[in-house]
Amino acid sequence: MPADVVIGGQWGDEGKGKIVDLMASDYSAVARFSGGNNAGHTVINDLGEFKLHLIPSGILNRKIKCVIGNGCVVDPAVLIEEMENLINTGVKVTPENLIISNKAHIIMPEHIKLDNKQEKEREDLKIGTTGRGIGPAYMDKVARNGFRMEDISRWPEWSEKLSKFVGDTQKLLRSKLGKKENILLEGAQGALLDIDHGSYPFVTSSNSTIGGALTGTGLVPADIRNIIGIFKAYATRVGEGPFPSEIPKTESVADYILKKGHEFGTTTGRERRCGWFDLDSAYYSIMTNGFNKIAIMKLDVLDGIKEIKVLKNDDYITLPGWDQSTFGIDDYSKLPINAIKYIEFLEEELNVGISIISTGPERNQTIFKS
Ligand code: IMP
Ligand code: MG
Repeated sequence: MPADVVIGGQWGDEGKGKIVDLMASDYSAVARFSGGNNAGHTVINDLGEFKLHLIPSGILNRKIKCVIGNGCVVDPAVLIEEMENLINTGVKVTPENLIISNKAHIIMPEHIKLDNKQEKEREDLKIGTTGRGIGPAYMDKVARNGFRMEDISRWPEWSEKLSKFVGDTQKLLRSKLGKKENILLEGAQGALLDIDHGSYPFVTSSNSTIGGALTGTGLVPADIRNIIGIFKAYATRVGEGPFPSEIPKTESVADYILKKGHEFGTTTGRERRCGWFDLDSAYYSIMTNGFNKIAIMKLDVLDGIKEIKVLKNDDYITLPGWDQSTFGIDDYSKLPINAIKYIEFLEEELNVGISIISTGPERNQTIFKS
């Protein structure tokens, strides 16, 4: 009967897509609940490499119903393109496996123009948005001027392709829960980009934290079982705004992480800012979301770094690194001792169990730790 939620614990790009893809087979539906095509992730599995922006990563699993919830904003042109790309690589996308909430708001071409105009006008206070019209679409939603997917019939070019996918997603999810089926709610962005709880104004325009999972789908608290926080073994941020554990570009380790971690935005191609794991922000993120499980991603990116730092109480703690490669390791006991010590240090500090450790992009490059 339950719904589990996957939420980014940092500033996005933690690797939620891989985890959702990995977990999807245990669920009969995967639902996005916030954001739009500002999100982007790469999923690599047996079928190939996929870049997804709006459609939940569950689409790669044939049996799953993918839902774009009411809390999302949809750019119809981008959605059509994403659907067609998937279909061209042999992935099934039909109303049988994709349903879009009739209440999700539409990103109009004017929203994209306004997003870029606002950014220009911000001069020194730029947010570094993805330029996809996200903020202005949510502005119109809140101002009660927006168009929703239920209005799609007003636009012949979009309606022809999309209207058959539009429906009552809350009812669908509720009926699945009623049938004792499991649902996975897929967060976008990260907790620290949440419109209310993030580093305002350097945030996105939706609730990317647990509250958004409820309002963005119409589910209720009693439906939720696990809230899984996804963190990188270090930290990155794309766009402007405070980043307390950022490594100055003058330190070579910043470039090492950037290159080894392929830290370039999936949506905009921008270089991500790189930093150390930030315990202070992580505590806040745990408090804001109630994570009861944590996944640590991209541990292998830290291989070969002599001294690993972690930010705690605005100060740095230094831990010894490891020389050996952890790439692809799927057995916890096979990790180098210092990598185990690093994981145990994080687990003790965070006081939440680390149940998944990722050591590479592929499904099998994953440690399930009890
Ligand atoms: P917007 O969501 O396009 O308005 O951008 C607002 C801020 O959120 C900018 O700093 C973006 O770089 C950041 N952002 C939005 N979506 C993502 C994401 O999926 N991953 C990482 N950062 C994001
Ligand atoms: Mg991303």
